[in-house]
Amino acid sequence: MKIIMLGAPGAGKGTQAKKIAAKYQVPHISTGDIFRANIKNGTELGKKAKTYMDQGLLVPDELVVDLVVDRVNQEDCRNGYVLDGFPRTIPQAEALDKALASLGQKMDYAIDVEVPDENIVTRMGGRRACAGCGATYHLVYAPAKEEGICDTCGKELVLRDDDKPETVQKRLNVYHEQTQPLIDYYTQAGILRKVDGTVDIEDVFREITKILGE
Ligand code: AP5
Ligand code: MG
Repeated sequence: MKIIMLGAPGAGKGTQAKKIAAKYQVPHISTGDIFRANIKNGTELGKKAKTYMDQGLLVPDELVVDLVVDRVNQEDCRNGYVLDGFPRTIPQAEALDKALASLGQKMDYAIDVEVPDENIVTRMGGRRACAGCGATYHLVYAPAKEEGICDTCGKELVLRDDDKPETVQKRLNVYHEQTQPLIDYYTQAGILRKVDGTVDIEDVFREITKILGE
């Protein structure tokens, strides 16, 4: 099962992608997480990506596409995967389709997690991310067992650099300009499915499992 998660920044793509990966036993591939891991490790890719990410801009397509195409060709992706944060532009979507077509494959579903901009801004202020493993929490909607400490690895929870209100607004604008056209792209491909992302995390997941099957 090959799935793309679509949605605005903070819509819950990562939250739902993790749950899908666990239930359907497929790898969760988040380009944002890959870039953040590279930033943390001080790689060349990380240094390049950071200059864009800190401004709320997209990293250029040429730094993203090969990375993802290589990743989905790895052995553990044989039975599928869930892409979170990729594709984010029409050229990225076309490059993905082309790479899959050359293997005689295609994506199965593009799931759009719909959340209005007003909800996003309040949500992002409450998000906390683990400085160690990158796990995501929310002060109100998905709290850690012990405040400020990651349930999984015990490291400190922090506000992501790009979650400051002015950067969130910038990311929303970039989303509407560059990523939202993918909704039409995948509607035309016949694989778009929409879910209401404003309800509880478990209710959003229930809708997704109805689409993907139990
Ligand atoms: P990325 O890491 O992908 O960030 P994003 O798309 O902006 O999305 P987020 O991770 O912020 O949100 P999410 O939808 O995953 O929501 P989450 O589940 O955390 O990308 C970061 C940057 O990297 C980009 O800006 C860009 O620069 C670069 N980049 C990445 N991919 C790229 C690409 N392909 N091309 C170019 N550049 C790229 O949830 C948010 C919060 O809400 C959490 O606190 C969560 O607990 C809470 N929450 C989730 N669901 C619910 C719910 N139903 N109710 C209440 N709270 C909820
Ligand atoms: Mg995410």
